[in-house]
Formats: sequence, C-alpha cells, structure tokens
Amino acid sequence: MADEASAPATTRGSRVPVLLAGFDARGRPMGHLQPPWDADQRVVILDAGSPGDLVEAELLRRRRGQWEARRLATLSAGPTKVVAPCTHFGVCGGCRWQDTSYPAQLGAKEAALRTIISGAGLTVAEMRSVPAPSSERYRNRVEFSFGARRWVLPDEPDGVDRSFALGLHPAGRFDRILDLDACLLAFPEADDLLRVVREAARRHGASAHDPVRHEGLLRLLLLRKGFNTGEILVELVSDGSADALVQQVADDVHLACPWITTLTHVTHQGHNDAVNEGAQRTVLWGSGVISERVAGVNFRIQPRSFFQVNTAQAEVLAQLVCSAAAEIGAQHVQDWCCGAGFFALVLARAGVKRVLGIELSAAAVEDAQWNARANGLNAEFISGDIKVVSAELRETPDMLVLDPPRAGLPAAALDAALRSGARRIVYVACALDASVAQVKTLVAGGWRLTRVTLVDQFPHTAHMEVLLVLDRTEPSCPQANGP
Ligand SMILES: C[S@@+](CC[C@H](N)C(=O)[O-])C[C@H]1O[C@@H](n2cnc3c(N)ncnc32)[C@H](O)[C@@H]1O
Repeated sequence: MADEASAPATTRGSRVPVLLAGFDARGRPMGHLQPPWDADQRVVILDAGSPGDLVEAELLRRRRGQWEARRLATLSAGPTKVVAPCTHFGVCGGCRWQDTSYPAQLGAKEAALRTIISGAGLTVAEMRSVPAPSSERYRNRVEFSFGARRWVLPDEPDGVDRSFALGLHPAGRFDRILDLDACLLAFPEADDLLRVVREAARRHGASAHDPVRHEGLLRLLLLRKGFNTGEILVELVSDGSADALVQQVADDVHLACPWITTLTHVTHQGHNDAVNEGAQRTVLWGSGVISERVAGVNFRIQPRSFFQVNTAQAEVLAQLVCSAAAEIGAQHVQDWCCGAGFFALVLARAGVKRVLGIELSAAAVEDAQWNARANGLNAEFISGDIKVVSAELRETPDMLVLDPPRAGLPAAALDAALRSGARRIVYVACALDASVAQVKTLVAGGWRLTRVTLVDQFPHTAHMEVLLVLDRTEPSCPQANGP
C-alpha cells in the first residue's frame, strides 16, 4: 500500500487505475484503487468491466463509502474477459455481463449467494448450482419498445432520422430506444420479427410512441415462444388511436412470417409501459394464446401471464421441486402463489395425491384449472390473497411450495407457513435479499435450511433464481386455526 502522506488525493474527476475484483450485490463491476492511489481503501463501482481487468477510470461520485466511476479504458484484460457475442453490447441496457466468461458469471453468482446466506447468519449443509445449458437464445419471452426518440450512435452522421426505433432502452435512459437488429437472449425467430415488424410499421407510416410527449401509435412488441411446442405469439401494443393501421401492420407481419401461431393487439394508454392483465385485447390471428410443455405437462399461456422465462431451466426447477416432495414421501402439497399452476401441476403429474394451489390473479387461476383439466390432472386451485387464504386453510400439508413475487410473502402468510404443520418448505426465490430474510424468520421459528440450489435462468445478467429447501426441526405444533 502507498504511503498515505505521498499518495495523491482522490477527488471527483481523478483518473485512476482500478483492478476489478468481482461484482457488487447489484451486479455492477467493483474493484480497488491501485498504486499510488491505493491509500484510499474505498471500493470502486464501475459501469463496465470483468473480474481481473485493470482499467483506467474516472471517479464520478462518492456514495456510502464507495466511489462510483466510469471506465475510460481497459489497460489489461483479466482472465475472465471474453469478446461479447452481441454487437449491441455496451450500449443496450438489456444484459451487462456478456464480456465476462460464463463460468466466471456463474462463479460470481455463487459467491454472491454464499455472501447473502452467511451474511444472514444462516448455515446450509448442501449448496450447489445448475448452469444454464445455453447462455444465449434462452428467453421464451421478450418485450421490445417502440420509440420516437431513437438513440443515435456516435458514428452516425448529423441530421439522421431519429424519429423511429424498435428495441430496448440504453442503460438508464427511459426516454430513448436503441434500434436493435438482434437480441441474443431472445429465441432465434425474435430477430426476424424485430426486422419484419419495424419494416411493416415504417411502410405504413405508423408512428412510434414518445414517452415524453405521450403520443405516437406503437408502444410495445411482446414476443413469446413455446420452446417445446414451437408456437409463437406476437402482441402489438398501441395507444388505440389507429386500429386500422395496426391491422395493416399485423397483416404484413403475418404474411412475412406465416409461422407465427397467434397475433394479438392490446390498447394501452397508461403513462408507463406496464400493461395490466385486464387490458383490452383483440385477437387478430390464431387463438390468442400459446402452449408450452414442461415436465410432461402442457401449459396454456395467455399473452401476459407469468411463465418461467427459461424453458430449459424451468424443467430443472420442476424436477427439483418434484424430488424434494418425493424425498419426504409427500402426499399433500400446497403451492402458494401458484400462477397458472406450474409447480402444482408438475407435482400432480409426478403422483402427489392432493395438490392445492393458491393464487391472487383470477385469470391465472382460470388458466391453472384449464391446464389441470386439459392434462387430466387432479389439482385444486383457490383464487385469493395468500395472506387471507393461508389463515383459512384447514388441512395440514406435507410440503409447501412458496414462489412469491419479488417482495416476498406477505407477513401474515409467512407466519401461516411457520405454523402450517408441513414437514418441508421449498422456497423459490427470485429476489434473494427479501427471500433470505424470510428464510431467516423460518429458521428462527424452528426450521432448518437443508439445501440451496442456484438454478441459473438468466446468463449474461446478474439475476438469480434460487431454490431453498427447509425442513422442520421441531415437532409439529397444532395449527392455530385447525379443526
Ligand atoms: C413468481 S410468480 C410464480 C408463479 C408460479 N409459481 C410459476 O412458477 O409459474 C408469483 C405469483 O404470485 C402471485 N401473487 C402475488 N401476490 C400474491 C398474493 N398476495 N397472494 C397470492 N398470490 C400472489 C402473482 O400473481 C404471481 O402469479
């Protein structure tokens, strides 16, 4: 370390060498200042880079004891560095880890998981990870935005048309859209659809949405594919000001891509892009839904209903949940926050005798019931808020599957899980901080964390999906609300 007296001071705007050590909890590259600035012990958070890179960085601001900095140049590439496979990498805000090798990405997620588990004071006998079989083209659902403020690249000439784009936002720019000709995370046909939809919209003079002025016809393009059925859904989202024009665009898309199995149009006038489930939808072609087959079950999927985004890894999740049930000989499993019945139905198919799913969305419950009937499976579903329904349950399950949204289970439902009398809980976590805090509450209430499995669903991004298995250590206490 440099002698503090002789080390130059670090101030905003300083250009400094930084050696990258890994990623922070938000997936941002982080490292440490190098001589002669290393007397400053602060962690430096970068906008880009891979573990092991030595970079020249400009210090931007100090926040909570850390420097935030912009990478100016890579002085030497670290051992984890690879050439990013996507030409849009670096500008597109879609995936930020593409120039780090996949084993290093997975290693970073494993390290982050260990830190979160041990940071919560939890111990676990078995921890493992399941790498994604493919780090590209794995997403079965992608949504692109139309934009009237196209992101202009530095090498484009002055005065170029910037009034229309179809793609994704550059990092941190809600008002701009980067025109994409490919997205390497999306299923392969998505690239053709991007091109064909863009050409059709331009040919017919359909305008793109401007999120600042809140005007412009075309807003979003949702694409979904059943990987195991080959079915493809295209959904155009417009502001509803010119349905005939949308129909013309859709006709052209259907003509150019006859392999699309259904095409729908939704009107959305909200200020943000969150299209709700009850939005007004017109089916322009096909059935308006697609199906996907996982673990031997066929699932009907509505355009906007939740379905695991990486089909190959959804298969792994299904297997892990089924073997967790088989290990304890579970005959009765409850699936809390069950969506369209994904875990409930694969468990019923695996032979669990009594399966009960509970879900807030009435539309998802309808799908779950439809899926149960269509597959000839015996499973029951209740539509309602888990914090209310969990207090009214009268039966004692052998196992609970908890797959709540990012915020975790409502407190009352977590309390009901503690007192459920189940022998095993499988917690499927997509936002680790919230989930691990809830697992800590379960452990404090008499449960043991038996196994943690990271199922990598999202290569090239920092997102994690983790399955945590807990077993009850204390004898079952009678249910407070039991018979
Ligand atoms: C991460 S998804 C899981 C869906 C399902 N397990 C699957 O794998 O397809 C979370 C689900 O929780 C549901 N949900 C959110 N809040 C809820 C609540 N308070 N009560 C019941 N379900 C809820 C959402 O509607 C959503 O379907």
